[in-house]
Amino acid sequence: MRPIATLLTALAIVAASGAIAQETVETPPPPVVDPVAGLAAWSKINAVFAHPRCAGCHVEDDQPRWSGDHYGGTRVHAFNVRRGEDGSGFGNPGLRCTTCHFESNSSVLHGPPGAPNWHLAPAQMAWWDKSSAQICAQIKDPERNGGRTLEEVAVHVRDDALVAWGWAPGPGREPAPGSAEATFQALQDWITAGSPCPQD
Ligand code: HEC
Ligand code: HEC
Repeated sequence: MRPIATLLTALAIVAASGAIAQETVETPPPPVVDPVAGLAAWSKINAVFAHPRCAGCHVEDDQPRWSGDHYGGTRVHAFNVRRGEDGSGFGNPGLRCTTCHFESNSSVLHGPPGAPNWHLAPAQMAWWDKSSAQICAQIKDPERNGGRTLEEVAVHVRDDALVAWGWAPGPGREPAPGSAEATFQALQDWITAGSPCPQD
């Protein structure tokens, strides 16, 4: 009898420790996937990203865009400004963005706006003329978003100087909706809700 009793005790211990181990594994709460809250947050984010103050620098081709009443409509940037043959986004030699765009806005109506490091976003970060679903897919793709996690995308939106310009674009230009902080918060809400993308 003794060996059997010992065996049963051993089994009871194994079973109990198994239960404890299982409990430990199950401790972190499952991620909250909430498509309704997530898509509501995304639509706030998209309203900013697709706005011409942001999207005018996030183009697939090599010409920045001008858009809004201030410019008399939507058009490619005047003066035959280009991304630059080297693909850098800083323009061609002799007509660099920084020839005209300085570190802060001109205070003169129709003077060049400015922020540090003024240049076009890489072509793979294209938002101009893209749908909400396309922009969402781009933002989630590390191959096309500069190798960023979504948290890093949110921090870029909160802290980057070119992004900040979108809410302080200088005289006559309509700013992007909301604020950097509100867009950062919408990104947090979207991430928490499982970062869903809309269908086209
Ligand atoms: C020859 C001078 C010049 C060069 C070079 C130049 N810009 Fe501009 N840019 C301007 C001026 C002037 C304005 C403002 C025009 C106005 O307010 O009517 C402007 C406006 C802009 C705007 C604001 C658009 C909007 O919708 O509010 C963006 C974005 C922009 N430029 C991007 C660039 C980029 C990127 C480059 C380099 C690839 C560049 N620019 C090179 C003169 C220049
Ligand atoms: C003057 C041009 C310019 C304007 C205006 C601009 N951006 Fe950008 N943006 C860039 C450049 C250049 C990069 C690439 C920087 C990098 O990867 O480090 C970039 C990258 C980004 C990224 C990184 C991730 C990705 O996939 O795109 C985000 C997010 C972003 N911009 C948000 C915004 C928002 C929001 C606005 C408007 C409020 C805005 N940008 C306006 C030039 C601009």
